[in-house]
Amino acid sequence: MTQEFHKKAIEHPIFKLIGETSQEIGMDAYVIGGFVRDYILQRGTPKDIDIVAVGSGIELAKKVAEKLKGKPQVSVFKNFGTAMIKYHELELEFVGARRESYDRNSRKPHVEDGTLEDDQNRRDFTINAMALSLGSDNFGQMVDPFNGLEDLRKKTIRTPLEPGITYSDDPLRMMRAIRFATQLNFEIELKSLQAITDNRERIKIISKERIVDELHKILLSEKPSIGFALMHQTGLLPIILPELTALQGIEEIEGQRHKDNFWHTLEVVDNIALTTDNLWLRWAALLHDIGKAPTKRFHKKIGWTFHGHEFVGSKMVYKLFKRLRMPLNDKMKFVQKMVLMSSRPIILSEDHVTDSAVRRLVFDAGEFVDDLMTLCEADITTKNPRKQKRYRSNFQIVRQKIVEVEERDHVRNFQPPVSGEEIMKVFNLKPSKEIGIIKDAIKEAILEGEIPNEYKAAYAFMLEKGKQLNLTPIVDEKE
Ligand code: CTP
Repeated sequence: MTQEFHKKAIEHPIFKLIGETSQEIGMDAYVIGGFVRDYILQRGTPKDIDIVAVGSGIELAKKVAEKLKGKPQVSVFKNFGTAMIKYHELELEFVGARRESYDRNSRKPHVEDGTLEDDQNRRDFTINAMALSLGSDNFGQMVDPFNGLEDLRKKTIRTPLEPGITYSDDPLRMMRAIRFATQLNFEIELKSLQAITDNRERIKIISKERIVDELHKILLSEKPSIGFALMHQTGLLPIILPELTALQGIEEIEGQRHKDNFWHTLEVVDNIALTTDNLWLRWAALLHDIGKAPTKRFHKKIGWTFHGHEFVGSKMVYKLFKRLRMPLNDKMKFVQKMVLMSSRPIILSEDHVTDSAVRRLVFDAGEFVDDLMTLCEADITTKNPRKQKRYRSNFQIVRQKIVEVEERDHVRNFQPPVSGEEIMKVFNLKPSKEIGIIKDAIKEAILEGEIPNEYKAAYAFMLEKGKQLNLTPIVDEKE
């Protein structure tokens, strides 16, 4: 076992205080888990600090809080035997060292007091089981019984115990292994991958919220495809996101093939990760093609088609969010909108880019038009350099036109320049369908570029349209 010391990791005075307090009440205490791992990896200074006490973690937390300036509150979670103190920007989580045993049908372990080693044994990965002593005689000494340090250097995810036990005990760890592999760009040990594959069905006992937390973290990583490819490889993907699995594969009929939309999707997600940290835009990239599986058809003359996949896909977004207990709020609506509109800029850029088409795009996408362009640019995965260049330069033109059209016509957050009330007043109308017809005609005329998006022009247009509908204005015509 290593005799390394890492005093620098725990130079914050809080660690000394915890160490001294634990000794006063006759316990040993250690920092463990993500804090130690991230310190070694130099991933910044973590704010979440896990302290394990060989004794009562709750008692230690209470004693520590008494000594801290301002006597912060201790939140006690009796059922879990843990206690938490928020101190400035730090979150200190205290737990007593424990031995755990599990039932097959639950994530809730039977817990008994244990030694530090018992506690390290119950942890998910060797890289998360390293502890630094807070005792005064060995302050900062690393206790690393499973050689997590070596695994950090080798970039390996490995479990302290037989992987089958670790994953079966707590199946969430299957997602955690994949998430850490994605975030850290580590390899999951072969034995572990096999155990995840064997235990994949057990993911069903985990709450959707926790699974979604891990999906978010995978999506927010630098290269999210690592995680989705691992989920695919281990068979977790069809259980959690079957809509994506359904995109996998290439079919060929009469020599005509379509691309593999699963691997294409992963490329799109990696592309978008290079340009945005917006979680929901990344979700949109992940789901932008899900409508392609149910809409896939083969036509003798035109080959493979996916007619209406954007519409079908946007409906599927709702079902998917619902199934995963994700919020059915404006975030979901945003993802739906992106999926629904995901082909619009492409169609537009394949053609001559007209002002009116751009105006319609800006009108329909509203405040999200830039996000939509980001998504569509990420969607360019062709390996043909000529096509790649053409798409990119066409999108540049679209972007440029969006700016021009915006400056001139302000249709992004379109407000009708003449209101329904004014139409009613001018033609002395009660609420009726004519009002809708006139309003719509004004909007269309603006989008088509027949009239500018201005009050005067819209008013004149309204009078003309009214005439066509045999309506007579009762107020003076404006100049
Ligand atoms: N842990 C575990 N099994 C789990 C969750 C957590 O063994 N299913 C242990 C690990 O030792 C982990 C520690 O509890 O390091 C703290 O868990 P958590 O705060 O969720 O994760 P971190 O490792 O700190 O990493 P992150 O904050 O990135 O999730």
